[in-house]
Amino acid sequence: NKFTLGMIGLGTMGRNLLLNMADNDFKVTGYDKDPKMLQKLEEDGKAHNLKGFASLEDFIRSLELPRRVMLLVPAGQIVDSVIKELVPLLDKGDMIIDSGNSHFTDTSRRATELSEEGIHFFGMGISGGEEGARFGPSMMPGGDKTAYNAVKPILEAVSAKVNGDPCVAYIGPGAAGHFVKMVHNGIEYSMMQILAETYDLLKNGAGYNNDQIYGLFEKWNNGRLKSFLLEVTRDIFKVKDEKTGGYLLDLIKDEAKSKGTGKWTSQVSMDLQLPIPTINESVSSRDLSKFKALRVALSNALPHKRIEITDKKTFEVQLEQALYFAMITSYAQGLHLLEQASKEFKYELNLKEISQIWRGGCIIRAELLEDIYQAYSKQAGLPHLYSDSGIQQQLEEIIPATRAIVISAIQNGIAVPCYASALTYFDSLRTDKSPLNLTQAQRDFFGAHTFERIDEEGIFHADWNSNNL
Ligand code: 6PG
Repeated sequence: NKFTLGMIGLGTMGRNLLLNMADNDFKVTGYDKDPKMLQKLEEDGKAHNLKGFASLEDFIRSLELPRRVMLLVPAGQIVDSVIKELVPLLDKGDMIIDSGNSHFTDTSRRATELSEEGIHFFGMGISGGEEGARFGPSMMPGGDKTAYNAVKPILEAVSAKVNGDPCVAYIGPGAAGHFVKMVHNGIEYSMMQILAETYDLLKNGAGYNNDQIYGLFEKWNNGRLKSFLLEVTRDIFKVKDEKTGGYLLDLIKDEAKSKGTGKWTSQVSMDLQLPIPTINESVSSRDLSKFKALRVALSNALPHKRIEITDKKTFEVQLEQALYFAMITSYAQGLHLLEQASKEFKYELNLKEISQIWRGGCIIRAELLEDIYQAYSKQAGLPHLYSDSGIQQQLEEIIPATRAIVISAIQNGIAVPCYASALTYFDSLRTDKSPLNLTQAQRDFFGAHTFERIDEEGIFHADWNSNNL
């Protein structure tokens, strides 16, 4: 009568995931230093007689062998200190599954350190927030594959399902799970920023009020743009503040915070030299938003015009297409980065499976992921999402409208960093002859960095100052 799995950390995510496991008839328990958290677990888990432990030793003793211990504690130092307390109590073959948003390099280090102790360490990304944890998240576990089989039935049972398929799959060795979750969050940042820019275009550009924006988002969400993020964004435009009776959104400071996963995605992309400019712009936009005083001063000194809309219907049709394009591009960049990281870090990522498990439960779930999943099902080694013929057909349809939207935003001084970068990313990628031959010439001119020629093999250097080259 021992427990099948034990959770360390009974905050919102840990508690809800445990309740989800109990709903699925798994015999589970938890541990938290904070007695209030244990009490909350007991209250919420009354129907399942779910109880936790206040002593780590008792908690560990209560688990069946090999032990499955899941951590849902804040990422960073805390994970290391929990592991340090835990290891002397564990036996060879036991498993620790870190389900927080840990940095993938921490996960690699921990996996190596723990394998020396004979303990299997998993880094697993969980997406879906509180609701997801409680009723079905999308999960991205990485680590030792044999050990994974010991937790697979639990994860599959509690995960979200799309057409009966569980939104969890073994992602790959080492830190692959946390890497993929990090990129998921990079895409999440980008999609959020694109929606923010859409709001800006509609409200500050075209003078729409919150009700009109709600209506438009509602309409769009009934079509190909249907997604979790558009749905929650739509709903925000309806919520009124209890105190003032006005829209809550209008009372929120326009300075965005972040916990780091988007920034990590951008940092890694630079290290791997795999461009994800739209995701980068979303990270920078959050950082730029913090310069409130400077923004106010400059907007007073240098005010901008509003977009003049002569034909509201055309504007809405074009904006829907531009939004769809920017969403496709966010996924395209994230998936391209995964492809490169898979080669670099030997993660053996399967993009078909990753797009499959992102279709439900997670924050970036969207109707569009079905097309992406189909694209990778047709061709496993697809070089880029833009390379798929189905996606290409859609691009041809939506690019002209995207140009019209970006042009009018730029003409009227409305900042659309993600829209604009998505479009120039597209234009750069389908340029057969880039102007970077000039960059090579410049590098060779002032630094003798050499260049390659199109008509001859080899490495060349020219004396650029000589007139008779
Ligand atoms: C998820 C979310 C989740 C969380 C992010 C938010 O997939 O469920 O991504 O992990 O919302 O950590 O990150 P920021 O605080 O950086 O926006």
